[in-house]
Amino acid sequence: MERMSACLCLAFLLFSVVADATYIPRRSHHLLSSRQNMKTSKSNTELPSHFETRYFPQNLDHFSFQPESYQVFHQKYLINSHYWRKGGPIFVYTGNEGDIEWFASNTGFMLDIAPKFQALLVFIEHRFYGESKPHKLANTLGFLNSQQALADYAILIRSLKQNLTSEASPVIVFGGSYGGMLAAWFRLKYPHIAIGALASSAPILNFDNIVPSSSFYDTVSQDFKEVRVNCFEVIKRSWGEMEVFSTVKDGLQELSKMFRTCKTLHSLSSASGWLETAFVETAMDQCE
Ligand SMILES: *[C@@H]1O[C@H](CO)[C@@H](O)[C@H](O)[C@H]1NC(C)=O
Repeated sequence: MERMSACLCLAFLLFSVVADATYIPRRSHHLLSSRQNMKTSKSNTELPSHFETRYFPQNLDHFSFQPESYQVFHQKYLINSHYWRKGGPIFVYTGNEGDIEWFASNTGFMLDIAPKFQALLVFIEHRFYGESKPHKLANTLGFLNSQQALADYAILIRSLKQNLTSEASPVIVFGGSYGGMLAAWFRLKYPHIAIGALASSAPILNFDNIVPSSSFYDTVSQDFKEVRVNCFEVIKRSWGEMEVFSTVKDGLQELSKMFRTCKTLHSLSSASGWLETAFVETAMDQCE
């Protein structure tokens, strides 16, 4: 995936749950570890009621005609027709990097507005995430990209509308963070399938050739500076202090005590990684 970083809190008011739950830090290992943490700790992973799980066979490759293009994987999607009036709109969440239940449980906005619009809700899992994986990952990772993901959504949506004999139902796509980028790109690339897109906290322009590569962490730093410049400076100095401290005799043991780690630290990196995540999350969740 292209390197990108998140705009902080752009559409927080509009779509606060998604904005809170999904963002793309510049470093993917950071993303994965913090997602993992969120899953087990603060966020809700219980699927809201009235959702049904389905699987749709997708071709691995939508753009060429090699034999491996016709490998099929089963793409998971969740569907909720509780509020739907046939002929009413279809709200589709263009799944981003994670289990689709997670996005369905943390995108309250779509559930909130479904009764008013008598809308059908559909959450589609992103290829190569959750259960939507080909059997052999090793030789297929080249098919993991946003263009293929968008084509998956296009094909699934058309098939679903056909099966429901609801071809005339307008489709609106929704997404947060990378999922918001996908929603916006989907509307641009497949305007005949979606009449609108809501992209929340989507870092659409946050690419290295458009903004400085430091822009994500600059924004995080700015948040702390706005509270108090000294706060920023103390945090900034602390990295070096910890580095030095970790190399002195019993330094790591002391740091373990200080931070009350579950196990004694063997290196500084897990503690500094944890702190970095805490600072980033604090900046992101402090929006009004
Ligand atoms: C539509 O129905 C066909 C035939 O039963 C099925 O193979 C396909 O998976 C369905 N499409 C979706 C999106 O569920």
